[in-house]
Amino acid sequence: MAILLPGGAGYIGSHTAIELLEEGKEIIIIDNFSNSSPKVLESIRKITGKDFKFYEMDYLDQEKLEKVFQENNIEAVINFAGFKAVGESIQKPIEYYSNNISGALGVLDTMRKYNCKKFIFSSSATVYGEPERIPLTEECRTGGTTNPYGTSKLFIEQILKDIYRSDNTWDICILRYFNPVGAHKSGLIGEEPQGIPNNLMPYVVRVASGELQELSVFGNDYDTPDGTGVRDYIHVVDLAKGHVKAFEKIEQEGKGLYIYNLGTGTGYSVLDMVKAFEKTTGRKVAYKIAPRRAGDIATCYADPKKAKEELGWVATKTLEDMCLDSWNYIENQSK
Ligand code: UFG
Repeated sequence: MAILLPGGAGYIGSHTAIELLEEGKEIIIIDNFSNSSPKVLESIRKITGKDFKFYEMDYLDQEKLEKVFQENNIEAVINFAGFKAVGESIQKPIEYYSNNISGALGVLDTMRKYNCKKFIFSSSATVYGEPERIPLTEECRTGGTTNPYGTSKLFIEQILKDIYRSDNTWDICILRYFNPVGAHKSGLIGEEPQGIPNNLMPYVVRVASGELQELSVFGNDYDTPDGTGVRDYIHVVDLAKGHVKAFEKIEQEGKGLYIYNLGTGTGYSVLDMVKAFEKTTGRKVAYKIAPRRAGDIATCYADPKKAKEELGWVATKTLEDMCLDSWNYIENQSK
């Protein structure tokens, strides 16, 4: 019995693939390398010493997807495929809704056809919109997303709730990620955004490496301790381990729709991140204060209690680990 990972060559997918393989699970990856590369697959094999099946394909391709289900005994799907750039999604709403929502629907439809009903979905803290309260619990109000990327996550969550209501033999787990950063300690896999990064940590490491000149800190007049935006940064390996726990939950207990925040429960500001990065790596990060970025909120961090109680999962890596591992990956790339 295998776990299918659409988008398994991507940033979070590849780290999860490693954790699943290291737990002795059988996995199958499908990916079209739209935001990843074949060398990631080799790195996964190298790190784990284990092999897995791979199909190079678009997860929207229904015919090929059916073939994957025909050729394999698939027990569960953890869906990492989809577009994820917030800014780009505002420019390309049709592409985002079509890829993310049609993609998820196609996978779910094929799963139903092959009576495979265990599904884990990569959602995002962005579904909370302007937070009802901090820290965010899973019961907090969702909605009010400010971009098609976030709205696609919200819509898919609703679709999953409707599917479960129509047929409660599904086992569905929605994981709301906070801000994933860092990389595998081997330095072999990490985050590789195409072009100029939008997210904070990839930008910070590229300023430290000299690839980019200076960081723009988007706003220092928020209602936060130092005026800059506060987020719940979580090491990608901790996040990956959360998927293993989620899989084990639906494998053992099954029959339910579960929603979990995957965050550390601690908020750090942009300047906290810059300082922590400088301290742990000894590199300078030049920055300037710039205007606020449209759509940003002041503060967002999780209450991770539910995942601890129900999954037995907690984030264990520190801010130093996040900074060092992000830097190690970039340094390793330039060797
Ligand atoms: N920031 C800067 N300068 C930059 C980039 C970011 O100051 O160059 C600031 C932002 O204003 C924000 C913080 O750093 O205060 C984090 O910004 P990111 O872009 O790294 O992350 P976001 O919190 O905006 O968004 C992330 C993911 C989304 C996800 C969301 C969930 O990118 O996919 O978390 O809350 F939906």
